[in-house]
Amino acid sequence: MSDTFHRKIAVVTGGSAGIGHATARKIAARGGAVYITGRDGDRVKAAAADIPGDVVGVQADSASVDDLDRLFAQVQERSGRLDVLVANAAAIVPAPLGSITTEIIDTVFGVNMAGTIMTVQKALPLLVDGGAVVLVGSMAAHKASRGQSVYAASKAGVRALARTWALELSPRGIRVNVVSPGPTDTPGIAQLAPGDEARKAFFSRMGAGTPMTRAGTAEEVAAVIAFVASDAASHVNGADYQADGGYGQV
Ligand SMILES: NC(=O)c1ccc[n+]([C@@H]2O[C@H](COP(=O)([O-])OP(=O)(O)OC[C@H]3O[C@@H](n4cnc5c(N)ncnc54)[C@H](OP(=O)(O)O)[C@@H]3O)[C@@H](O)[C@H]2O)c1
Repeated sequence: MSDTFHRKIAVVTGGSAGIGHATARKIAARGGAVYITGRDGDRVKAAAADIPGDVVGVQADSASVDDLDRLFAQVQERSGRLDVLVANAAAIVPAPLGSITTEIIDTVFGVNMAGTIMTVQKALPLLVDGGAVVLVGSMAAHKASRGQSVYAASKAGVRALARTWALELSPRGIRVNVVSPGPTDTPGIAQLAPGDEARKAFFSRMGAGTPMTRAGTAEEVAAVIAFVASDAASHVNGADYQADGGYGQV
């Protein structure tokens, strides 16, 4: 079984930066046609143009059912089917217990849970038998971090969705798996520590908790997502791959 994406059609939500962008680049480099999404239309178009190959940027917020309808209508019209779906877009809003608001819950669960559910559900009519769905989870589902309870609960939910969907979609041969990154140097996380020096120190602190003593790169996580999404992982189903440098494993 091969890890090529030759003649495959893929959608990667949240593909204009970070792990999603690196994943789209890997799939395109191996011959796949890729649709990437992001909320900022200019950014997603520029990000698509930045990747060699057949890559289309579509402005779409994963929390919006209308946007998802528009996204999959475009895939249907241009490509007619979908082989690989990577539900990667997520919201993270740190909030220690005592400061959690219903707005924070709505924002985080609106993208990470409702958005993930509706992304997969809306993609379903286009997904071919034998297709692959990868949900991007988080080490936060497995290991506690101060201030991350709402985000962690949403990502634990993502893991639970994958178990059930793997069962429900098995008659069609559609595999559903999770890839859970650990601390990973991406633009989104880097915003928490603006500036080169602050970013370096921040990721060094984040990585210090892993046995590998460093944060991962978006490319390292994307390599695992691409493997799980490819036919090389044809007997991998309902699983949760931890791409976390061992952070949650030891
Ligand atoms: N980096 C880490 O340390 C880490 C650790 C564990 C898990 N993860 C998970 O890995 C995934 C990717 O994270 P990342 O660090 O690569 O993020 P990132 O650098 O912040 O990039 C996020 C991407 O998603 C898009 N996006 C954000 N909200 C969206 C929405 N509602 N609808 C559609 N697109 C949206 C962003 O573009 P716009 O802003 O234009 O929408 C951007 O393209 C997430 O599921 C995250 O929870 C990351």
